[in-house]
Amino acid sequence: MPSASPTVVRTRVGIIGGGPAGLLLSHLLAKAGIENIVVESRDHETIRNTHRAGILEAGSVDLLTGSGVDGRVLVDGDEHAGIDLRFNGESHPLDFRDLVDATVTLYAQNEVFVDLAAARQRDGGDVRFSCEVTSISDVETEHPSFTFTDAEGATTEVRCDIVVGADGSRSFSRRNVEVPGHQDFKVEYPFAWFGILTEAPKSSPELVYANSPHGFALISQRSDTVQRMYFQCDPAEDVSAWSDDRIWSELQRRVDGPDGFELKTGPIFDKTVLGFRSFVREPLSHGRLFLAGDAGHTVPPTGAKGLNLALADVKVLFEAIDSFYSTGSDTLLEGYSDLALKRVWKAQNFSYWMTSMLHTPPDANPFLLRRALGELETVTSSRFGQQYLAESYTGWPHA
Ligand code: PHB
Repeated sequence: MPSASPTVVRTRVGIIGGGPAGLLLSHLLAKAGIENIVVESRDHETIRNTHRAGILEAGSVDLLTGSGVDGRVLVDGDEHAGIDLRFNGESHPLDFRDLVDATVTLYAQNEVFVDLAAARQRDGGDVRFSCEVTSISDVETEHPSFTFTDAEGATTEVRCDIVVGADGSRSFSRRNVEVPGHQDFKVEYPFAWFGILTEAPKSSPELVYANSPHGFALISQRSDTVQRMYFQCDPAEDVSAWSDDRIWSELQRRVDGPDGFELKTGPIFDKTVLGFRSFVREPLSHGRLFLAGDAGHTVPPTGAKGLNLALADVKVLFEAIDSFYSTGSDTLLEGYSDLALKRVWKAQNFSYWMTSMLHTPPDANPFLLRRALGELETVTSSRFGQQYLAESYTGWPHA
């Protein structure tokens, strides 16, 4: 039974959500001597086993390694200097190093989580997994608080100066604090991704983003022996209707071409349908509540921007909180939402653009299909076009 009077914990920053955004913020704050607590509803194992995207911008890698999280991303991460855009059955390689002198690193989001959680544990951070936040109060005052219930049903009240909602796209913090005059912007897509993990060798040195008359496919990787692939599907697709053979022939027909490109196949050990949408909450703050990462905005995975945006929010928010405690001024805190949203909308544009250019809507108007091919041709046949994509994909400089 929940206890009648909650235990009270007093700290400076209360972080709701222990995914990569919440943990990185906690880590940076702790390094700056700013006490904080992280409360996460899921358990460590569940997050570790949730497969998400895997591309880190160079700026994200620097943020992780530069703050002393762990160098594992540099050892186990796979640096990629380009992607392959495939349409009309032909490959169009983009060389990021040549185009914009930048690279990205393939390192799965769950590995980023594992490294951050390990760093918090190593440094004695207060991270509570399997704890459900049940209320948030007084964010319009200088003494906000929230309560959470742990796995045994005991209730704790966190009293702090600042509450950060880094609790993902279904964010409790966003949904349960009344923000007068806020706006939610969103786009739903009539398709989803069917994602698989397979024990197979790499099919191609770089990631392949394929537009085909049968729909989009992405040939990604995880290691020399495990690969990650996706194909566009109906949001209501039933994974149990898809045998390994059926999946391989669907993926293969989306990358087929006169060059004879052939996927390297193997046993499939994970099959998931991933729905997505574009979403932005404005503003990202209200009083002493600040939203970061998916809690404030989500992007379709096509541009691989979700995790990178979350880490970029955290960098801006950390600097604002640090300045608040070192100078007593809340100017940067007040500017957090506007500054973070600049990058958010650039990433929204890029993710929407990549998604619409590469996917085939179910009601495919033949004109629109040809138009998308015209766009792909425009981008790949010009150095400026290639540079535009390369600059966005590898990430704009941090504010
Ligand atoms: C992935 O490997 O999961 C991945 C890579 C690139 C994307 C999306 C997902 O754009």
